[in-house]
Formats: sequence, C-alpha cells, structure tokens
Amino acid sequence: MQWTLSENAQVLVLTGAGVSAESGVPTFRGMDGLWEGHAVQQVASPEGFYADPALVWRFYSLRREAGLKVKPNPGHEAIAALERQLGDRFLLATQNVDGLHQAAGSERVIPMHGELYKSRCEHCETPFYDESTYFEPPLPTCDDCGGKIRPHIVWFGEGLESSHLTRIDQFIRKAGKNLVFLAVGTSGVVYPAAGLVDVARRFGGKTWLVDLDPAREAYARYDHVIKGKSGEVLPKLFAI
Ligand code: OAD
Repeated sequence: MQWTLSENAQVLVLTGAGVSAESGVPTFRGMDGLWEGHAVQQVASPEGFYADPALVWRFYSLRREAGLKVKPNPGHEAIAALERQLGDRFLLATQNVDGLHQAAGSERVIPMHGELYKSRCEHCETPFYDESTYFEPPLPTCDDCGGKIRPHIVWFGEGLESSHLTRIDQFIRKAGKNLVFLAVGTSGVVYPAAGLVDVARRFGGKTWLVDLDPAREAYARYDHVIKGKSGEVLPKLFAI
C-alpha cells in the first residue's frame, strides 16, 4: 500500500518500541514485563528508585550500553525522509527513549517518555552532564544541591512534560481535517500516547496503524491497519 498525501496534509507520527525492534532493541511487551526477575514496572518507577537506586541505575546502564551498539533501521530512515519532504507539516511523537529517530536524522521529535542518555537531579531537576553508565555505587549526585541523579525517563506513575503534550495538541488542532495520524509499532496500552488516535479522530483526521501484531481493538480505532514490520512497510507506504 502507498500513501497519496494531499498538499495540505499534516502528518503526526507516533512510534513505539516496535519501530526499534528490527534494530535489535527488545519491545516492552516482548520482555514479558520482567528484567532479571524484577517487574519492569518496579525498576521503571519513582518507588523503585527510592527503594533501590543502584538497581534502577543498573537497568538503565544496561540499556545505555546496549543502545550504543544498535543503529537505525529502514523504518526510522523512512520516517526521517518523510519529514524532509514535509518540513513543518510533520511532527514525530515517540515513546522510545533510545534516540534512534534522532540518529536517523529526525529533527521534529517529541521524546514523550524521556531520553535514555539524559539524566537530571531528582530534587532540583538540574540536568546532569554525564551520559555514562552506573553499574556500581557510588551513584552520581547533583553538583548544585547534592540530590540523587536519576535517568531522564518518564516512569510509571509520572506525568508527561506538559510542553510536549501542548505541542502535540496544537499540531492536531491546527491540522484539523488535514491531519494524517500514523501510529507505528505500539501496543496502544500506555496513555496518554494510546489516546492520541482518538483525539486525531475527534478533530477529523485520518488514522493509520502499522504494527506487526495489531491488537484486535485496533481495527475499530483506526481507519487503516497494516500488519507488518515497520522497516518493510514504511518505505513502501511513503514510497521512499
Ligand atoms: P510495546 O512493547 O507495548 O509494543 C510494541 C508493539 O510493536 C507491539 O504492538 C508489537 O506488535 C509491535 N512490533 C514488534 N515488532 C515490530 C516491527 N518490527 N514492526 C512493527 N511493529 C512491531 O511497546 P510500546 O507500545 O512502545 O513506557 O510501549 C509503550 C510504553 O510502555 C513504553 O514507552 C514504555 C512501556 O511501559 C515507559 O517506559 C513510560
């Protein structure tokens, strides 16, 4: 299948872990919710960090280390090429923290769930300069206030940055009926990202999903559902 976009089309792409699967990054549901016997929800939460910051840092350090070995795949590249065609008529909201979209050349990116190689103070929120790994204590502390440094990730139970939500909301409202909303490689269970398709529909946008294994409900929520790997489907869909 191939898109024919109108001259006024405004494209909002939402990506999830599936877009990075072909680069070798495991999806969340694919891990069965467990990491070394710990529930992912436990290590990726403020409660988990409070209880055992070293464990949480080890989890993210492993992901940082693995992230250095992976490269963008044709799915990321197709999305970046689409942005080059559309310019400001394009916006990418990603739930992935791996930075692979940016590595593929995407610029108009909203990292809704944070960024793997960034950290900040848990108290004063000052960004931390060091992108390295922390497998063992001593764990990093803030130069300004001495607070613990935490990964710059939106954890379970935490809200998204309001500026991110505002930017997405404005893009959808401005586009109205010209909106083409495309979700790629996301199971659609984590809100508010999972609700963007409903917002897009409310404003009259067309909605598409590309996913290897779409949930049954997806067929009712999206105008078009394409079952397949993003690295194979997207270059054809965009004819890139
Ligand atoms: P999930 O792991 O929940 O879903 C991955 C989706 O990708 C599934 O629907 C798969 O069918 C699909 N998939 C797998 N391989 C694919 C491929 N090659 N091409 C296309 N699709 C493929 O990941 P997310 O939906 O991203 O949140 O999960 C959402 C959020 O839940 C994550 O950002 C994370 C997690 O809890 C936080 O960390 C806050």
